[in-house]
Amino acid sequence: MGYGGKPNGRKGDVMIINDHGRGHLRILQLHLGGDRNFQYLLADARTGEAVAVDPGFAPSRMLAIAREQGLTIGQILITHGHSDHQGGAVELAALTGAVILAGDPGDLAGAEPLADDQLLRLGGLVVRALATPGHAPDHFCFMCQDCLLTGDLLFCGKVGGTGPYFPGSSAGQEWESLQRLLLLPPETRIYPGHDYYGGQGTMPFSTLAFEQEHNPFLTSGGFEAFCALKENWAEYKEEHGIR
Ligand SMILES: [Fe+2]
Repeated sequence: MGYGGKPNGRKGDVMIINDHGRGHLRILQLHLGGDRNFQYLLADARTGEAVAVDPGFAPSRMLAIAREQGLTIGQILITHGHSDHQGGAVELAALTGAVILAGDPGDLAGAEPLADDQLLRLGGLVVRALATPGHAPDHFCFMCQDCLLTGDLLFCGKVGGTGPYFPGSSAGQEWESLQRLLLLPPETRIYPGHDYYGGQGTMPFSTLAFEQEHNPFLTSGGFEAFCALKENWAEYKEEHGIR
């Protein structure tokens, strides 16, 4: 890893992958199941108020971690409606009384819809919801201070899948959403929805500047090249030894 962070290692049953302290903001990056899924607890360290992001798996374990850390989950945020990101949300809401906010509340009982640029209070901090369709039509990213949770829009070294396997997805919208992210300060730290980095070592988080320089989808040179890389991704991965 090229910068900062406190990696706790990836061996065995480690659930807290990283505890990113950023001033008053706490970011707990958790692995609790799925296809290298990351789910998150964001909290104001001063008040212990927390939001759970993408509780796809093991809601009771997520709650136990929050309690161990002295955090109270008051809101549940969903980056998009794929089951590996929201599968445990209703149960976590029942366990905590927290409200669920999602781009498409769909069949999440009691959930409220998110609006683009909606501001959410997190103790004395603010979380900004950014509509970022592409991988899924209801996709949102969440920004707090200089940290951006990117769901399945932008990973370390990759971007979210689009095409027939992902209903409602759009490579064009994904491209536009990525351009929107790139207007944010380059030092913005990104925390993805999956641990999909396939390069040497580990990279559970990154920065926009790093991705702009190294992510092949962002260095491809334009929308047509972006689409061409998507078409040829299997070959590109094999050629470059990417998992
Ligand atoms: Fe997804």
